[in-house]
Amino acid sequence: MSDDTGGSKVLEAVEAVRAKARGLMEATADRKALDDVRVALLGRKGELTAILKGMKDLAESERRKVGEAANALKGWIEEAIGSRLAELSRSEAEGAAGAPSGGPAPFDVTLPGTGRPAGSIHPVTAMRRKVEGIFAGMGFMVVDGPELESEFHNFVALNIPETHPARDMQDTFWCDDGQCLRTHTSPVQVRALIRYGAPIRMIAPGRCFRNESIDASHENTFFQVEGMMVDSEVSVANLIHVMKAMLSEVFGMDVDVRLRPGYFPFVEPGFELDMRCSICGGQGCPTCKRSGWVELVPCGMVHPNVLRHSGVDPDRFSGFAFGLGLTRLAMMSYRIGDIRVFNSGDLRALAGLGSASPQAV
Ligand code: PHE
Repeated sequence: MSDDTGGSKVLEAVEAVRAKARGLMEATADRKALDDVRVALLGRKGELTAILKGMKDLAESERRKVGEAANALKGWIEEAIGSRLAELSRSEAEGAAGAPSGGPAPFDVTLPGTGRPAGSIHPVTAMRRKVEGIFAGMGFMVVDGPELESEFHNFVALNIPETHPARDMQDTFWCDDGQCLRTHTSPVQVRALIRYGAPIRMIAPGRCFRNESIDASHENTFFQVEGMMVDSEVSVANLIHVMKAMLSEVFGMDVDVRLRPGYFPFVEPGFELDMRCSICGGQGCPTCKRSGWVELVPCGMVHPNVLRHSGVDPDRFSGFAFGLGLTRLAMMSYRIGDIRVFNSGDLRALAGLGSASPQAV
């Protein structure tokens, strides 16, 4: 007696379900219809499920064969549903773009484009360009120097020998080979004098670094503009005039300045140049800490030792130099209260600044 307990019939049924499944799937027009097909085949009351349920009536040996075939069919159906779904999604997307189904989506030039927010110039860059323009108008050239600087240019040539206490005020980051991240743009004074000699008028905007604890007004990375004018008869009067002219242009109004003594090893005499507070007109307010003046530009007459280190004869030439805090100027002009926003990468900090013009403080 054959031990066929109906196994071959079931195998035929499996194949029949496969053929039917193929036809049903091809006929589906959308995802909903495809889902109905899935339920009809694989659902709790589906055709394949019925076959699997019926297996318990088969003899052991047939059960295995039918089981394998039914499982293979199950895998096939799942895969076929997946690829049909992909086809349907594609033609749905094309349909949405107005394409005849099957063909590539035509490009509709009348559709509104995808908006991209316009970028803006970084406030430090905007201020740098402004300052460069002002000094170019006064015959200053714009020069550049390295951010990774030698100890000679950053300190020694600027009259700050190794044991000088001024080094403590400008702690920085050192490389194994003895170079450091420059603490100010003043080394470019030395580089420019060595390269171009005197007479010279130059500015050098650039990034500077200090080993600082960071807070709202201190950063380890910030920008300065160095400036220097060396000629046969340069005096403090020239310094004051140039500073006044520059600040008046930056702030778009007549600016009052005053000098106070200030100490920097590379200038003699050295000054702190203050600007009359434009918020209160000099009456005293929180911005100027009730003094009526805002401390703005450290400056002075180039120390003879700096000229000597740079190969310029201090008996023939004299000059002034200043170190404008470019980041600080941008903060004042754009009313940015926290220096940390500059390096934070948070674009919200720049929102609206691109079109704003610098304002007087
Ligand atoms: N380099 C000084 C600093 O960073 C500023 C300065 C520049 C002072 C030029 C005087 C002359 O603090």
